[in-house]
Amino acid sequence: MTALLTLLHQPKVVAFDAYGTLFDVHSAVQRLGSRIGPDASAFSALWRQKQLEYSWVLSLAGAYRDFWRLTQEALDYAFASFPAVDQVLRPDLLAAYRTLSAYPDARELLGRLKAAGHATCILSNGEPGMLADAVASAGLADRLDAVFSVDAVGVFKTAPAAYQMVCSHFGVAPADLLLVSSNRWDVAGAAAFGARAIWVNRAGLPHEYAGLDPVATVPDLNAVG
Ligand code: LAC
Repeated sequence: MTALLTLLHQPKVVAFDAYGTLFDVHSAVQRLGSRIGPDASAFSALWRQKQLEYSWVLSLAGAYRDFWRLTQEALDYAFASFPAVDQVLRPDLLAAYRTLSAYPDARELLGRLKAAGHATCILSNGEPGMLADAVASAGLADRLDAVFSVDAVGVFKTAPAAYQMVCSHFGVAPADLLLVSSNRWDVAGAAAFGARAIWVNRAGLPHEYAGLDPVATVPDLNAVG
């Protein structure tokens, strides 16, 4: 039985955020770092920042464009902000984003959760095709019972409909859903929905979103179970 989960009310479903939690969003730029130059880290950070910002702004505006389109638009913004980075790299960066590296502890944890009898899934803003590519590339398909894209509900996390999609599929109440995410904003959304969440705080970031709290904060996926 997994360590931390034994301390918690046993969740019926464990849902994982994808980008930033199972997959390293910065591995795309890291693979091409030598061709991007000294701005690689700042370039990657801005790419991620704008990708997420677009999802929040569109959702608040009642609009929707899929996450693969937002990923491309955010990349183009990063190129415009770093003119020294050659746009000839665009197709290679997008190809790398389709096959992001999984964090080393992801596959093992999913295997332990499956062995312990938990239903495991991904709940992600990702568009279905980009999620399928990432899961296949990382060899995680055999350790996931389902992959949920918010594309099915047409609104991004932290909208309740995103988390409800998982509960409806498995026929469980929000309290029986445990979200594992490295994104503190995602943890806040799950808490607001009535689910429980574990925050994978790899970077040791300060707490925020008081009152919409994780049931546990851990440094990496190994500590989840
Ligand atoms: C996901 C990222 C955006 O939903 O957190 O996979």
